[in-house]
Amino acid sequence: MKQYDNKVVVITGGTAGIGRATALAFAAAGAKVVITGRREKEGQEVVDEITKGDGEALFIKTDVAQEVEVKAMIDQTVAAYGRLDFAFNNAGVEQALKPLPEQTEEEFDFVTNINIKGVWLSMKYEIPALLQSGGGAIVNMSSIGGLVAAPGMDIYVASKHAVIGLTKSAALAYAKRNIRINVVSPGAIATAMFQRIETDNPAAGAAIKAAHPMGRAGTSEEIASAVLWLCSAGASFVTGQTLAIDGGYTAQ
Ligand SMILES: NC(=O)c1ccc[n+]([C@@H]2O[C@H](COP(=O)([O-])OP(=O)(O)OC[C@H]3O[C@@H](n4cnc5c(N)ncnc54)[C@H](O)[C@@H]3O)[C@@H](O)[C@H]2O)c1
Repeated sequence: MKQYDNKVVVITGGTAGIGRATALAFAAAGAKVVITGRREKEGQEVVDEITKGDGEALFIKTDVAQEVEVKAMIDQTVAAYGRLDFAFNNAGVEQALKPLPEQTEEEFDFVTNINIKGVWLSMKYEIPALLQSGGGAIVNMSSIGGLVAAPGMDIYVASKHAVIGLTKSAALAYAKRNIRINVVSPGAIATAMFQRIETDNPAAGAAIKAAHPMGRAGTSEEIASAVLWLCSAGASFVTGQTLAIDGGYTAQ
């Protein structure tokens, strides 16, 4: 018997990076994994990787900024597997590093639509499905940028602070109804997103890494293991909390 046998998890932005690593970790622990995202080919590759072993997974094409698609994501999950137990609202985008006066309205709308509205919409449809299953756990994705400033990434920072507020608010509303809602705040993690920051601005990338007391970027697997723990019975009295996984960055 594996830890998450018979459990169903939805992971937004599960086609790459941290979402992909968390999908693989949940599958290895026995869960049925619903991988969602905008990129069909990459999503199917994650499904294939899980199902070529003894895992169960399916991909549902979803843009988290579109309400009809998020509703369909949860409807199709429940139709396929009969229940929902956990959700990892991970999908997110970064912004190009530049002074605030040079940032555009389009960039503001793009980042906030995915990073804030996407998490809000996901919880809006996940919560009724979790209640239907008798409860469960949600983990939202913030960042160290949700806890401290990063000048030049103002929109991203605001969006990730918002995710922490959304998490606390929803956690209190459902604390007595057996749904725990927490948020992870990673430091720099070696994914395509951080690679884009490094390519765009190598000096900033190196400075960000050097600012981590452990002197390195984290791995997607180091975030996945925290997400699995937050969903576990071992975290049964933990709700409304922000877990920084940042090699000590926010302890400074
Ligand atoms: N890599 C880091 O250093 C780091 C640090 C802190 C927080 N984060 C957060 O972790 C999350 C995952 O990022 P990652 O580093 O794995 O990067 P990534 O770019 O590899 O993955 C982001 C995932 O989100 C998906 N996505 C983006 N917009 C979407 C949308 N509208 N609808 C559905 N899916 C969408 C992408 O397709 C991709 O699968 C993001 O929310 C990011 O802000 C990353």
